Amino acid sequence: MGRWTLRRRLVVVVVALVAVVAAAMGTLSTLALQSSLTTQLDEKLTAAHRRTVDGPVRVGGIAVAPDQAADELPAPPGSTFRPGQDAGTVNVQVPDGAGPADLTALQAGYVDDDGNLVALDQTQTEQLLAVPTDGEPVSIVLSDLGGYRAIASVATDGTTNVTALPSTSVTSTVTTFVAVEVVVAALALLVAAAAGMVLVRRELRPLDRVVGTANRVARLPLDRGEVVLADRVPARDTDPATEVGQVGAALNKLLGHVEQALGARHESESQVRQFVADASHELRTPLASIRGYAELVRRSPDDVPVSALQAMSRVESESERMTALLEDMLLLARLDAGRPLASEPVDLTVLAIDAVTDAHAAGPDHDWRLDLPSEEHLEDALVVGDDHRLRQVLANLLSNARLHTPAGTAVTARVRRAGDKVVLQVADDGPGIPPALRESLFQRFTRGDASRNSATGSTGLGLAIVHAVVTAHGGTITVSSGPGTTFTVTLPAALAA
Ligand SMILES: Nc1ncnc2c1ncn2[C@@H]1O[C@H](COP(=O)(O)OP(=O)(O)O)[C@@H](O)[C@H]1O
Ligand SMILES: [Mg+2]
Repeated sequence: MGRWTLRRRLVVVVVALVAVVAAAMGTLSTLALQSSLTTQLDEKLTAAHRRTVDGPVRVGGIAVAPDQAADELPAPPGSTFRPGQDAGTVNVQVPDGAGPADLTALQAGYVDDDGNLVALDQTQTEQLLAVPTDGEPVSIVLSDLGGYRAIASVATDGTTNVTALPSTSVTSTVTTFVAVEVVVAALALLVAAAAGMVLVRRELRPLDRVVGTANRVARLPLDRGEVVLADRVPARDTDPATEVGQVGAALNKLLGHVEQALGARHESESQVRQFVADASHELRTPLASIRGYAELVRRSPDDVPVSALQAMSRVESESERMTALLEDMLLLARLDAGRPLASEPVDLTVLAIDAVTDAHAAGPDHDWRLDLPSEEHLEDALVVGDDHRLRQVLANLLSNARLHTPAGTAVTARVRRAGDKVVLQVADDGPGIPPALRESLFQRFTRGDASRNSATGSTGLGLAIVHAVVTAHGGTITVSSGPGTTFTVTLPAALAA
């Protein structure tokens, strides 16, 4: 029962209660009816018995011999039968000293519905004579005849009189009553179940709406960006007078708080982002001057000592590195801010060819390879997005393959169609990515050997940018690296297959 819904539990409880009440009422009223009918029968029985015991018919209060009032008698003289006794009344009259076997039909018998006198057999007579002679009605079952109420007494002359009336009327009335009651109770249960179901469903419908609101909100992406939590439980389901209303009102309050908190978070996040963007932007100009002056010094080598020249060339290369870092930071800040990207058809095949050509120029010691769809399937590699950013994705992946693998490594740029996606892969057979790095590979400033990387212009932002651009295009990026490294970028295709 603990796992049942509230709905089912309520209906079951209502139906069970109705069933218990109906059973109790039915039992009590049946008992009452039976006892009242039995009382009536007993009164009739007592009257019939008194007539038998009191003897001859009395006319105007004077006792007359039965034969004197023959026209009023239903039975021949000398019988135990008296006027006014119902058909079916059983009479047994045993004179003192006589046995059951000595009795005539008139002394042990009954008049049936058609007026025929029927004698009792010996068993029936003995059954009746076993009735206690204390004048109290008892229930007995006569063989072949059925249920009876019987009363017995012994007169002063020693004659034993037993009178019995069939209790079939009581039994059949009670049976009919019970049948009617069962039918009525069954109907009442059906009505209670149906009404309970309808009522409970109607009363709990607001709860469904509250649940619906909670589910809709739960499906919203709340983890980043600006979140609009417009969904609320409708006002009619927030009446604090009802339990469901209290839940609805509490949920609305909670949603209000969450919306406020998320708004505050978004606010502070965008402030930080704006600050990074502004700072990167502001630093570009002074850096450009530093680079310019360093270059100026380098161009007039005669005016300065050699050591100063060396220092200036370091200043120049470091400021170049710093410019690259600032550009990356600015780009990431802009991607974080969710700046809309261009959305134009971009052919990844063209991008791959260009990028590999550039990479070949930058790293002639590597073995660069292209793996593209065949001529007639070129449109398979079309995606919708920002050409410039997607070029950057490829450039970053290829420059990683160039910078983080030894000379002679084979690097393959592969483009192919998979269902409604275009898959772009950059695979190399280099040494692979250090295991310590793999977890946080796409996070900012994650990079391998820093000392070596400083020579290569490594910033640790390359893969973070790749990840951000791919995600902004609605794509995914995965990496597998044992010996050899494969980056797999999946982007939604522009055209259906
Ligand atoms: N193809 C690759 N083979 C081996 N290591 C790689 C490869 N690509 C990336 N890495 C490792 O992942 C780190 C992070 O790469 P990235 O985010 O591009 O930063 P950066 O290239 O500026 O160091 C690199 O420093 C390098 O150690
Ligand atoms: Mg890199």
